[in-house]
Amino acid sequence: MRNPKTPLKIAVLVSGSGSNLQALIDKKQDGSLPVEIVGVISNKADAYALHRAQSANIATAVFDKDADQKKYTRRQFEELALDQLQKWQPDLVVLAGFMRVLTPFFIDGAKQNLKAPMINLHPSLLPHYKGLDTHRRVLRSGEKKHGCSVHLVSCELDAGAVLTQASLEIEGDLDPVELQRRAHALEHKLLPWTVFLFASGLFEGAIEDINATAAARVLPLPWRLEGQWQ
Ligand code: GRF
Repeated sequence: MRNPKTPLKIAVLVSGSGSNLQALIDKKQDGSLPVEIVGVISNKADAYALHRAQSANIATAVFDKDADQKKYTRRQFEELALDQLQKWQPDLVVLAGFMRVLTPFFIDGAKQNLKAPMINLHPSLLPHYKGLDTHRRVLRSGEKKHGCSVHLVSCELDAGAVLTQASLEIEGDLDPVELQRRAHALEHKLLPWTVFLFASGLFEGAIEDINATAAARVLPLPWRLEGQWQ
């Protein structure tokens, strides 16, 4: 059992803008999130998220291309990223806008060697709308509700136990860009809140073996973020 007075060590994997990473940094800096961001890994050298991390004095590791400018294969990326995580020894691995599908090599490797749960932020109310382009698909189907989810990472894409969710009503004539903007704003609350729940030890025990089925049985999941947090 971790000491709740010790900050939760988190490592964040990113590929793009990193606005969700920024939300974590902001909450940490304003004192509402008791975490230490031990490092940020990107599979894209030009990810703006790296700039955000460096501005906050957070260690970064980029595994995009090798010394000959040859793109790393999926396997090479996963080996390098696992090695890096071993060095940082996070308590929790957070995929925040990490846009590369991870294979069982990485997911099982992290499970065995790190003993840290791995969570992913997904822009839909899972189990609905797994995969990409969720906002457009939601509108096309005439849904009246949308939102975002944080789930445990399992070997099946976007299919691990859903831990937390936040939702919004779709009213009037929303276009996909506006819906994405609203869902993104919701993500910026949901992800820090979920990490806060981890830091508070609320998921401990239930998912210490990182077993999605066990988690869903022990906890009345998903937990829903209604309104504001902090
Ligand atoms: C988010 O919408 C997240 O749900 C999806 O990728 C986006 C990343 O945004 N997986 P950002 O890089 O955190 O700004």
